[in-house]
Amino acid sequence: MNKIALITGITGQDGAYLSELLIKKGYIVHGIKRRSSLLNTNRIDHLYKDPNQFDRNLVLHYGDMTDSINLTRIISKIQPDEIYNLAAQSHVKVSFDTPEYTANVNGLGTLRILESIRLLKLTNKTRIYQASTSELYGLAQETPQKETTPFYPRSPYAASKLYAYWITINYREAYNMFACNGILFNHESPFRGETFVTRKITQALSRIVLGIQNELYMGNLSSKRDWGHAKDYVQAMYLILQQDKPDDYVIATGIATTIRDFILKTFKKIGINLLFKGKGINETGMIIDLDEDIFITKVGELYLDIIRKKIGLDVIKINSTYFRPTEVELLLGDATKAYNKLLWKPHYTLDMLIDDMITKDLEETKRYIKTRHTKQY
Ligand code: NAP
Ligand code: GDD
Repeated sequence: MNKIALITGITGQDGAYLSELLIKKGYIVHGIKRRSSLLNTNRIDHLYKDPNQFDRNLVLHYGDMTDSINLTRIISKIQPDEIYNLAAQSHVKVSFDTPEYTANVNGLGTLRILESIRLLKLTNKTRIYQASTSELYGLAQETPQKETTPFYPRSPYAASKLYAYWITINYREAYNMFACNGILFNHESPFRGETFVTRKITQALSRIVLGIQNELYMGNLSSKRDWGHAKDYVQAMYLILQQDKPDDYVIATGIATTIRDFILKTFKKIGINLLFKGKGINETGMIIDLDEDIFITKVGELYLDIIRKKIGLDVIKINSTYFRPTEVELLLGDATKAYNKLLWKPHYTLDMLIDDMITKDLEETKRYIKTRHTKQY
C-alpha cells in the first residue's frame, strides 16, 4: 500500500520539492491549492497528472487555510498518513501590512488542521509536520539558536508562527498526537518567491547583466541569515515524521552571512566585483571591475558590452521601503539534534545554492527577455 500524504501549501517552494521527494518514495501526494485567478501551479507542473488519468500519484484539491469545513472535508476524504502543514502567508515584511490575515492563515490555520484530525478520530493514524521557523528566535537570546533557545518574535508573522508552534505541542501532549515542529532556518532555491531577498538578488543580477534593469533597490544589508537549500530541508521534514517519537528539531547549516556578502558573492560568481560605500540609506554598491573570462563563460559574450558600460556605476541602492518596523538582525542555527537523531546533514553549501539560483535565473531571464518584465517588488 502506498502511503498517503497531504501537503498544504503545495504550490509554494517547499511544497514543490517535498511533493517531488514523496512521490519518489512511492507516496500518493494530495495537495491543497487555493483558488486564484491564474493557475499558479508552475512549481509542480512537472509532477501534475491529468485528473482524468487513472492511477495518479499527485492529486490537487481546492481549499484554503481559513476554511475549516473545507479542510475537514479534504482530510476526511483522503485519510492521510502524514500531513505537512506548509501553507502560510510566509512573507515577514508583508505580515506587517496584513497582520490579521497572517494570524488567521498561519496561526488559526494550524489549529484548524489539528482540530480536524482530532474530530475525525485520526489522532492515532495521521502524523503532522508543522512548518515552524527560525523567525521565532527574532531578537535572538543566544547564538547559535537551538531547540532550547527562548523565542522572541519580532513580526506579526513570527507571532502567528509562535501560536502554531505551541498549539502543535499542545495537541501532541493533550491528545497524544504525532505532531512535530521543524524549526527551519532560511532555505532558498530557484523556486524561491521573487520577493524574498536571495531570489530578488539573483533575479536582479540576471536582469542587470542582460540589460533590462539598471539598479537593484534593497533594504537592510547588515542582517545575517543562515541559508540552506530547500531541497535539503524537505528531506528533514520527511525524516522528522519517520521517527519513533514525535519531537521538534532545528534545521540549519550553522553558517550565517550578511545580505551584503550574499550580494558580493552572487555578483562575483559571474565575474563582477562590487564595492560598497556609504552608510545606511546612502550606502551603494558600485561595479569596480570585471573578469571577462568568467563573465563570458557564465553569461555569454553577447552581453559583454552591456556590462562593460556599467563599470563605475552604482547598481545597488537602498530604499527605506524595504526596511521592517522591527528587524531580525541575526539568525544562526545549531542543528546538532537533527544531525544526531535524524542523521540529517545539508548537502548544498551556500556557493552551490547561489550557483543553482543564478544558473536558473539567467536561463529564465534569457527566455523571457522579450516580455521586458522590469518591475521591482
Ligand atoms: P511559500 O513559497 O510562500 O509557499 C506558501 C504556500 O502557502 C503557497 O503554496 C501558498 O499558496 C500557500 N498559502 C498561502 N496562504 C494560503 C491560504 N490562505 N490557504 C491555502 N494555502 C495558502 O513558502 P515556503 O518558502 O515554501 O515555506 C513553506 C512553509 O515553511 C511556510 O509555512 C513558511 O512560513 C515556512 N518556513 C519557510 C522557511 C523558508 O526559509 N522558506 C523557513 C522556515 C519556515 P499560493 O501559491 O497560492 O500563494
Ligand atoms: N525581502 C527582502 N527584500 N528582504 C530584504 C531586502 C529586500 O529588498 N533587503 C534586505 N532584506 C533583509 C530583510 O530585512 C531580512 O533581514 C533579510 O533580508 C531576509 O529577508 P527575507 O528573504 O524576506 O526572509 P526572512 O528571513 O524575513 O523570512 C524568511 O525566512 C524565515 C525563516 O527564518 C521567510 O521564508 C519566512 O517565511 C521564514 O520563516
